[in-house]
Amino acid sequence: MMSTVPFVIVATVTVIVATVSGKESSRHEILRGHQIWQLSNDVGDVPLEVMQKGLLDVLGHFGTSKKVRVPFHCLEEAQRLLQEKGVSREILVEDLATYLEDHERLSKRSATMKSDAYNCSQPRHDDYMTFEEMECFLKRLSEDNPRASLTSIGKSFENRDLWMVHVRPNDPSDSEEAGAVWIEAGIHAREWISPAVALHILKELVQDNGSIGNFDVYVVPMANPDGYNYSFTSDRMWRKNRRITSQPGCGGVDLNRNWDFHYGVGASENECSEVYRGSEPFSEPETKALRDAMTKVKDQLKVVMSLHSYGQQLLYPWGYTKHKTAPDTSDLIARGKVFADAAKSVHNTVYKVVNSAGDLYKASGATDDWAKGVLGVKYTYTLELRDEGMSGFNLDPSHIVPCSEEVWEGLRALLNEISKE
Ligand SMILES: *[C@@H]1O[C@H](CO)[C@@H](O)[C@H](O)[C@H]1NC(C)=O
Ligand SMILES: *[C@@H]1O[C@H](CO)[C@@H](O)[C@H](O)[C@H]1NC(C)=O
Ligand SMILES: [Zn+2]
Repeated sequence: MMSTVPFVIVATVTVIVATVSGKESSRHEILRGHQIWQLSNDVGDVPLEVMQKGLLDVLGHFGTSKKVRVPFHCLEEAQRLLQEKGVSREILVEDLATYLEDHERLSKRSATMKSDAYNCSQPRHDDYMTFEEMECFLKRLSEDNPRASLTSIGKSFENRDLWMVHVRPNDPSDSEEAGAVWIEAGIHAREWISPAVALHILKELVQDNGSIGNFDVYVVPMANPDGYNYSFTSDRMWRKNRRITSQPGCGGVDLNRNWDFHYGVGASENECSEVYRGSEPFSEPETKALRDAMTKVKDQLKVVMSLHSYGQQLLYPWGYTKHKTAPDTSDLIARGKVFADAAKSVHNTVYKVVNSAGDLYKASGATDDWAKGVLGVKYTYTLELRDEGMSGFNLDPSHIVPCSEEVWEGLRALLNEISKE
């Protein structure tokens, strides 16, 4: 069903639409005709099944909003499959390209994303940063702060660096009992708030004088630079990496389904699916690099937190099944609530502490399950950042600072609690 024929149709319609409306083609052209649907409440596993077939894209974690994106050439087939299983839908967005163009016009952001000159001393407050801007900030940060060192842990499929910052504890003389914290961001390209928050946390970390306890902190602020670049230049809804696969028009591997722990559950073997797991576990250079860097510090690791969006949920393992309870679940929940309470105290934002597989969106091959199941790290979480689905991935940059502030507060409280153990 994903032969090249439908793509020819898409291209033809695109030209007609562009001509009729008289609009010059925008950088959202690839999403012309895509729709956003709101599904009825009682959906069960149906959306995941249809997503595994490559016909739709589940947006956000399913506990919060049951929104899906449906590509133009899948509209009929997806509708038919959903109807067959008794799931009804309401069309929220008729044409995603027009929606994104209008949104940008309203928020007065230039279509080419040209922002003011960037001097690299601070992460941007007012806009999402390009990967090149992030690199500039990270280099400056490590030059200016003796406690921070920057390492490239590998290269992406398109040969971009995968950067890791190691921030050493404030008081190295007192470091025997300190553990390490691993923060990963940006593994899903379109979740722009994730790397933005990671960069702001880095800024806080290097200024912190011991309020998080004596932890070593490792931060990989951009785990999928190729996909991130592509989400700026060509497809705002891009999620996967940029692996070239055998099917033209269906590139990319879902890096958060590529880790080797109960590999395959809730993922897809279909290259066209948004949850394509890859040809084998750790088939991707990005996940290999993360695995190797984490493995090197595994004996120190106490906390692994992977930043995603959206949904405002702190998810604890397992993600691959809801029928088995992970070790330390009661501690994971209790410390998770410490995070959520502290985060809420800043801007009153509610983060729900929930099981990763508990809301019918089971998924294997994710960072947090692997870190717990294979490395044996006690506290592993996936944090779904703002919002609850109003704007979703299209979150206004004015959220960058408040979202970073609440996550930083939550993280501090969590680490303080854990350092007492
Ligand atoms: C860089 O820009 C910030 C404001 O974003 C300013 O406070 C700082 O002084 C600038 N630094 C340099 C070296 O120009
Ligand atoms: C995307 O990557 C290309 C090649 O590295 C670069 O020239 C371009 O500036 C990048 N665009 C964005 C928006 O990051
Ligand atoms: Zn994600």
